[in-house]
Amino acid sequence: MEKQQLANNTRVDFIDPQIDDLLKHSIRNQLQSLLKSKLTVCERQKLLQKSFVDAITLVLTDLQTVTHQELVSAFETMYDNAVQSMAMAELSQEVLTHQYISATGLIMSPYNCKHTIKDVYRIKGYARGLDKAIQGKLKNKPVVNVLYPACGPFAPLLLPLLSYYKETQIIEPSQIQVTLVDIQPGAILTLKQLVSDLQLEEYVLLIEEADATIFEPQNAIDLLVLEAMQHGFTKEGQLSIAKHLVKYLSLDGWMIPQNVSVRGMMVVGETEFNQQWKTQEYSHSSNVGNEAQQDRVDLGEILKINKSTLLEMKELELEDGIKVIPANQIVLPTGVEDMSKRIFAVYAHIETFAQEEVGQYDSGITHPRPDTSVYIDLKPKDIEHTHFVASSGDTVQFYYQLTGLPGFVPVKVQGSV
Ligand SMILES: C[S@@+](CC[C@H](N)C(=O)[O-])C[C@H]1O[C@@H](n2cnc3c(N)ncnc32)[C@H](O)[C@@H]1O
Repeated sequence: MEKQQLANNTRVDFIDPQIDDLLKHSIRNQLQSLLKSKLTVCERQKLLQKSFVDAITLVLTDLQTVTHQELVSAFETMYDNAVQSMAMAELSQEVLTHQYISATGLIMSPYNCKHTIKDVYRIKGYARGLDKAIQGKLKNKPVVNVLYPACGPFAPLLLPLLSYYKETQIIEPSQIQVTLVDIQPGAILTLKQLVSDLQLEEYVLLIEEADATIFEPQNAIDLLVLEAMQHGFTKEGQLSIAKHLVKYLSLDGWMIPQNVSVRGMMVVGETEFNQQWKTQEYSHSSNVGNEAQQDRVDLGEILKINKSTLLEMKELELEDGIKVIPANQIVLPTGVEDMSKRIFAVYAHIETFAQEEVGQYDSGITHPRPDTSVYIDLKPKDIEHTHFVASSGDTVQFYYQLTGLPGFVPVKVQGSV
């Protein structure tokens, strides 16, 4: 047995660039991969583990001195190493790139999902929140059960944190048991490789290929970690997954994120999406411009997603079988002179746990999403059925459609001005 392990550890870990499309996307990457391919399995795993611990150490420590560039660089290194594990999992081209629309949302391919591990401020908000939640639960329980559905090939909200726990021995495997679920076979194969490369097997109870909207966990869940959304709370099945799995939370179980608030606003596109960012090095909630913020016409909250709203949500089934969730009503403000020149935009504010958050512009998932099918005080020349036309003073009821392309549907309340 020992001999076999030794043999594995000293085997040269060769990735043939001829057959590995994943590593073919640029010449530089190919060359870097070739350099890394001279590493032994053991050396590659050590680099991988170090990169995961380094990235998460930077976001967990409250060092004011850590710069944006340092974070980006640490996360890039983590990404490069994770991609090596993905390459080692030897997914076929079909498994790697298969992307489709299910009954409840877009199912991104493992190839397209691999970038989320570089989304610094999303991972920062989630990992810091999760760390507090795990430590909080452990005050009253010997073992915390964590479920992370739709985790993608790298489970980036959790595996770096677990690597940090292993390295620092702050939390032992006996104190936390994690279930990872994804519908993509390629994500599962990659996860198995990555968990093994990170030597995190003791922390992981189960890696399951399943549709998270019907998956039935065997044990009550203490923490449900979920991120399956795109900007404007559209496209992916976050709501369908959350609505199904919230039922399996223990009575005092917590959702991470604890609260998602989706808000609407009317913006001048040029100010909001261009001028505001012209002099900024990168987009982040701390870099938004005062003038642009004041120029927005806030329409208020359209939908709030947390444990209690999810448990109370009632689905409506339309004649053609389409399911919708009634969201909030808003009254379009009057007296906004340039209303007809403004664009409707939607954004999510994510509170992960205990004041930790992913704010607007911190990540692709919280970036405001302009919706050009909404016309306020303006009539399009050719009205299509997808257009929504309303006037200042109208009351608008929002619905959320739980279809293959989830998103908001505004409807004018009859009798409003
Ligand atoms: C953007 S990726 C990874 C998201 C990951 N949570 C993160 O923070 O990076 C989205 C993943 O969700 C998975 N997914 C989407 N809908 C799913 C569903 N209904 N059941 C299981 N997995 C799902 C996809 O297969 C994909 O791997």
